[in-house]
Amino acid sequence: MESFRKQLQASTAEPHLALENTRLMQGIACGKVDVDTYRQYLVCQYRLFAPLEVQLRIWVQPDLATTRLVKSTWLLADLQALGCQSGGTFATVPDITSQAHAFGVQYVLEGSMLGLQVIKKSLPPEHPAHHHAGRFIQGNGTDTAHHWKAFLLQLEALPQQERPQATAAALATFGAFQREFEGVTNV
Ligand code: HEM
Repeated sequence: MESFRKQLQASTAEPHLALENTRLMQGIACGKVDVDTYRQYLVCQYRLFAPLEVQLRIWVQPDLATTRLVKSTWLLADLQALGCQSGGTFATVPDITSQAHAFGVQYVLEGSMLGLQVIKKSLPPEHPAHHHAGRFIQGNGTDTAHHWKAFLLQLEALPQQERPQATAAALATFGAFQREFEGVTNV
């Protein structure tokens, strides 16, 4: 039987491509150096990660929460390094009201850390992501694959009947990222 991860990957391939093709992500991925674009990117990520991590705290084991649900803190540190006082208001994100929803949302957040490793390599050496404002992009660094595999083990344990709910949550999360990223048009 096909793994649930493979099913999620197939179901979300189209929204993933759409996100990659937003002006903001194209600008970041092609190594755009200007600090303003980078700041807008971090703000978008913060507005999404922060409310999702707050909700996930109820569903993620406490020991994992302290190592996994930290990306909004990293984003805030990067934004402060760029002179911002705060990350801004929270975006509208899906409600997480079940373990299945939590897995669907985590699939998107954890998976997005994989692409960051690729993006980071495409940024020029002078980019602030390689210096004082790179905590988020650095992500889990060399532990990225290990984190991802540990998450996939949990994901595959999700009972068959709960998987459609997780898929719906993953798609809704991609939708929230799409709305947010599409809102940035001045790249
Ligand atoms: C220019 C932007 C992006 C690029 C170039 C990119 C690239 C990639 C790449 C190369 C992988 C596969 C990595 C691997 O298997 O080791 C990946 C996986 C993934 N990315 Fe992205 N990504 C981008 C943006 C995003 C964003 C913004 C999100 C969600 C918020 C996202 C969510 C995911 C997910 C969930 C996976 C895991 C798919 C799976 O293998 O099951 N990506 N991305």
